Formats: sequence, structure tokens, C-alpha cells
Amino acid sequence: MRKLILTLCGSVVLTLATTVRQVLIPIECEQTGYYLVVDNDGTVFQKYFGSRLSTPASLLPNDPQKTNKNTDAEAYSAFGNGNTNETALRLIHSDGNMTTLLLYDSHRVLPSQDANIVVTEVVLKDPAYPLQVTLFYTAYQKENILTCRSVIRNDETGSVRLDGLASGYLVLPPGEFFLTHFYGAWSAEMQMKEDKLSQGIKVIDSKKGVRTTQSENPSFIISVSHPAEENCGEAIIGTVAWSGNYKLSFEVDNLNRLHILGGRNDFLSDYPLDPGATFSSPELILAYSDCGTGEASRNLHRWARKYGIQDGTMPRPVVLNSWEGAYFSFDEQTILKMIDDAASMGVELFVLDDGWFGEKYPRNNDKAGLGDWQVNRKKLPGGLKTLIDHAHARGLGFGLWVEPEMVNPKSELAEKHPDWIVGTPNREPILMRNQLLLDLSNPAVQEFVYNTVSGVLRENPGIAYIKWDANRHVENFGSAYLPADRQSHFWIDYIRGLYGVYERLSEEFPDVIFQACSSGGGRADYGALKYHHEFWGSDNTDAYSRIFINWGFSQIFPSMAIGSHVSFSPNHQTKNVSSIKFRFDVAMSQRLGVELQPKLLTPEELEWTRRGIETYKRIRDVVQLGDLYRLISPYDDTDRASMMYVSEDQSKAVLFAYSLRYHYREDYPHVRLQGLDPDKQYRVTELMPAPKPGKTDSTRPAIQCEGETFSGDFLMKYGIKILIRNAGESAVLELTEI
Ligand code: GLA
Repeated sequence: MRKLILTLCGSVVLTLATTVRQVLIPIECEQTGYYLVVDNDGTVFQKYFGSRLSTPASLLPNDPQKTNKNTDAEAYSAFGNGNTNETALRLIHSDGNMTTLLLYDSHRVLPSQDANIVVTEVVLKDPAYPLQVTLFYTAYQKENILTCRSVIRNDETGSVRLDGLASGYLVLPPGEFFLTHFYGAWSAEMQMKEDKLSQGIKVIDSKKGVRTTQSENPSFIISVSHPAEENCGEAIIGTVAWSGNYKLSFEVDNLNRLHILGGRNDFLSDYPLDPGATFSSPELILAYSDCGTGEASRNLHRWARKYGIQDGTMPRPVVLNSWEGAYFSFDEQTILKMIDDAASMGVELFVLDDGWFGEKYPRNNDKAGLGDWQVNRKKLPGGLKTLIDHAHARGLGFGLWVEPEMVNPKSELAEKHPDWIVGTPNREPILMRNQLLLDLSNPAVQEFVYNTVSGVLRENPGIAYIKWDANRHVENFGSAYLPADRQSHFWIDYIRGLYGVYERLSEEFPDVIFQACSSGGGRADYGALKYHHEFWGSDNTDAYSRIFINWGFSQIFPSMAIGSHVSFSPNHQTKNVSSIKFRFDVAMSQRLGVELQPKLLTPEELEWTRRGIETYKRIRDVVQLGDLYRLISPYDDTDRASMMYVSEDQSKAVLFAYSLRYHYREDYPHVRLQGLDPDKQYRVTELMPAPKPGKTDSTRPAIQCEGETFSGDFLMKYGIKILIRNAGESAVLELTEI
């Protein structure tokens, strides 16, 4: 039997017609490899995913019979032909046949402008039906990120009913598996939970349609052999780039293998594929490390800054958002004064949140006006222009809140276009925050949403930032636009419609910063983030809560994308009391902002705010563009947390440490640093040491080695003792190479 080993080069297409022989399809990054093998009957098997192999050709068995469906998993499984686990593809052919056989047709590496991006295309066909599935694997060489997606084309003479088309399918060899997933709710997003997987299927999904993360985020971590560790062991991070219904399933089979399927949720989502039509899945993004979750997260962050979010190399400005400072109660003078105060505190961009619009039904609370995007001249007689000019005159950028996918029943929009509202015929509408959802599967609504945002931006030149909110999910489902037999398209067409609008806007307004928001952190996914610069982490701005929320987000998203704001104490959501230092030290570990009414700050708080913002500007490049090392997890029993960022050239680092409770007489933690160059010398400086209790003119340092110099080797092996013991104490250390 002829053994054919292929080395991929250029865009050469290999098609093995009738006599398929063993073919190796290597999909490789610098350190990660995923290898497919085509068997002699044309079945494509996935043989290995993990650290890149130096001799992958050894995956080709001498005896092809050794590769078989009992022990090897297909690269992309379809229902039927002995596949009894959850399958990547399920469909009903035009003649009613519910089984599909996917065999190798060809593969090639697509031509690329960027040597860092290698896309491998694998074409599979059903020998009995003119139907093909193309798998696209994109290997980001330096970042060690692999993304997968699939596209199906129906060339049958009749329609095919598509029941499920996964973005990616990954099977791990027999072992023990631990799943970390991210659950939560409004104000408690991204809580981490780890479970040992046992036989059967664990599903993480959303059927909420619009907000991906109000219950579970479409991301996961699989740790092999033992619970997830930051710095050791095999870890796979996966995340679905889709802002609608998604599904992740983890099935441990009777051979103890783990089958991971990820992509859109097929729940009530039948999508008939007409003859000649194609249908694409979103991407499943995968990061692998054999050195723990820390490295896998760093890989993902590096990838995200370069490819996953907008302008990921551009440091983000410090914003003051008006929401917690003014809510709906403001007039022009309030905002002008807030802008003045923001400027004097060193803020770089002022964001006017909800409440600025609505004429017939002014938006003075959340009960009316949503959908009517005309400035409320009673509140703001000079329009947005007066505010924008005022901000510019004080050297600030200006940003604006919009929620263009939604409508209050009490609005001119709802009166004019009741057919644009998502709702179920013969059922009462279900209100959520007094609002309803607009039907973005309808092109007229897409146009309205596009015109709303582009209109505001065009008519008010100088808006540099848009906070795009979406404060409800789908409850009463139904589209007046889609025909009866295509209602199940709604979930997908809505998000496609939304992405179409995002795309037009981000192309047309490349200099505007877009923030994704959805009842706080409800739209944190790489589908939406492709068109955004950042997301609002949570409406819970309490520093204690944010340590956990941000810890969860940090597993998947880079710090520069996580909006984290200093707000009032007692906190409006949790009523917790915390010092302004603690609030700053927490918010400064991500993309810092402020969300309060400056005139209500005490002189000490105001002074601290100025210093906090100034300090953040000093460390911003390291925090936003550096590599994250998580040192002490708040989820560990220590009730402490610590993390640090290191600049790419390892010349600078910033360490954050927090104490979450009173630690009695326990010793102070010795925090061992990571990511430094062992041979470099670093000077250690504490930034903004805490004031002595009751005093404003003297400080109580958290380290005893202020200004001293240590080698990276010493700092990483011995560490630094950080003298924080009480609840709400914290320290920020700057390390500078000398
Ligand atoms: C949501 C957002 C908040 C704020 C309000 C305004 O709750 O998460 O940050 O913008 O809407 O109504």
C-alpha cells in the first residue's frame, strides 16, 4: 500500500480521488499542533492536539487498519454511520435520509498575506449526496492559537434541513478531565466553577438570544489529569465567537475519551439550506498549553490584542462615565460641571450615559423613550454639541451611551413600528427592564439601528466613544418579518443582522472607540469584540466583587478590553464600604475608569482620584499591553488575590495584591513574582501607599524594601513580603529594570 505523506506548501490542492491513502494534515503553530490523518477509506481522523510534534509523520500507522473508529475520532463527525456520540453535523437530506457520511475530498493551505496566519482548508464530501463540508483551521503561529469553523454547501436538488453544524470538534484521548466554566448573572458575571467531568454529557449553553453571558459565558477551560493549575499541566481554553445562542458540550464516552463540541446552539434553530446555498458556523477559538492556564490565557490575550478586538495595540483612555454619578437625573449644567471636574482629575474622555434623549417621551427613567434617539432639549438645550465642545475645550474626548436594539413600549418608535418588535403572536409581551427587543432579522430594523448610530456620529462630529448597551434578552420569541416556516432563522439572522451593522459602523468610523455592554458584562464574547475595543465588565463596581469578576474575565479576555471603574462607597449595588485606595487598586488592574459624581467626593477622595489616574497613566502601557501572570487566586482559601503584568521586553512590571478579609495573626504573604527576566535587576517601588489610619500626611507602606533593587531570579524564587492584613487592604508595586 502506498503511503503518502504530505508536507503542505503554498496553496497546492491535493485531491485524492478513488484510492485515498494515508495522508497527514498538520495544522501547526510554533508550539501547538493539531494533526489530522486521512485513512485509506477516506475517513479523516483527528489524531492529536497538544504541544507541537517534532516528528508528526509517526502518526501515520504502518498498518492503516490500526486507525479505526473505535479508537480514533473523526475530525468532524456526522450523524449516522456508527457515530453514536453527539456529532458535529446533523442534517436531513432532501430525500429524508438523516445520515451523512463525510469523506476526504481535498485539502490545501490558503494563500495568506500574513506569514503568521496559516489557514488550512479541508474539504469533506458525502459520496452518496452532492453535499460538502469545508473545515477551516487557522493557526496563529506566534500566539499559538487555533481557530476552527465549518461551512456546509448543499448541491442537492432539494432543500436540506440543517439541525446542527458545530464550529469545532475536539476529542481528547482517555483520561481525567476537569472543566472550568464561567457562570453568573447580572452584577455577578464570570464566576468560575470547576467540575470533574464524568461519563455523560455536560452542556453549557445559552438560549437567551442576545446576551451571551448573563448565565454562562461561551468559554471554557479543560484541564487534563488534575484540576486547573496556573503554571503546570495541560490546559485547553476554548471560546465561541458568537453573540447569540451558543452551545458547548463535553461528553466523556465509555472509553473515557472527552468529546468537545462548540458552536452555535441548534436549539429550535432549524435552518433549511436551499439548493446551492452555503451556511457557515462562527469560530471556535482554542488555546493550548502544557504549562497551565496562565500561559494559555496569555496566548489568548496576545492573540486578542492583535486579531480579536479593535485596535488592540492602542492604549485605552481613562474615562468618566456619568451613570452612577448622575443616573437619569441631570441637566446641561450637571454634565458641564462633571466634564470640568473630570478634566481637573486627569480623566481623558467623558461618557454621557443613559437619559439624554426622547422628546415626546423623555427618557427620565427606564420606563419611556427608548428608541427615540433625539436629544432631550429640555435637559440639554444646547444639544450634544455644547457638551462635546465643552469637553474638547478642556482636552477631553466625548462618548455617548446608546441602546439601539431596544424599545420602550412608551416611545414614538413603538407607536410607529409595532411590527419591528420581537414578540410571540397570541401571547402577552414580556417586559424586561420595561423594554422590548427590536427584530434585527428584519433588514429595515438593521437599517434603523445603523442610521441611529451613524446619524448620531455624523450629526455630532467629535464623538469619540460609543457605549452600546442591550439590556434584555429574548423572552417572547417571534419575528413579524420572517415567514412562518422560517421563524427558526430568527436566532441566527438577528446576530448576523447585528454583526452587519457593527461592521458597517466600525468601517465607517474607524476612530471611534466602541464599548460592548449588555446589562453590564453580558456581551463579552469574541463575536461582538471583533467590532469593539472593550466591554463593560459588570454593573457591579464594588471592588470586592470585581476582584472575582475580573479574575474570571482575565482567563479569556485581555485587560485592556475589560472596563473597570472606581465608584462610590458604600457601593450602590452591594452596599460594601471600601477605601478609595482599594477601589483604585482594583480598577487599575484592568482598563481604568471612574463612575461617580466628582462633586460628592471628599477632598481626600478627590486628591486620591487625581493621584490614582496619574499613577494609572504611568503604568497603563504595562497593564494594558503587557503579559498577565496570575499569582494568588481569590478562589483559593487564602482570601487574598495577586496578579502582575510584565512588559513584552521584561523591563517593567506592575504587581497588584489584595487582602479580602482580616487575616488575624497569619503571616503576610510572600508573593513570588513571575514573568521577569531572571538576569535583570529591578527596582521595587510602591505606588500610592495607603495613608496611616486617621492621617493624610503620612503613609503606611506595604513593603519593607521600598526603592531597593533585586534580581528577577530572586523576585521569582524568594518573592516579596507584602504587608497587607485587613479586609480591603491592597498594594501596587512597580518594578523597573535598572
Ligand atoms: C445598563 C448598563 C449600565 C448603564 C445603564 C443605563 O444597566 O449596564 O452601565 O449604562 O444600562 O440605563
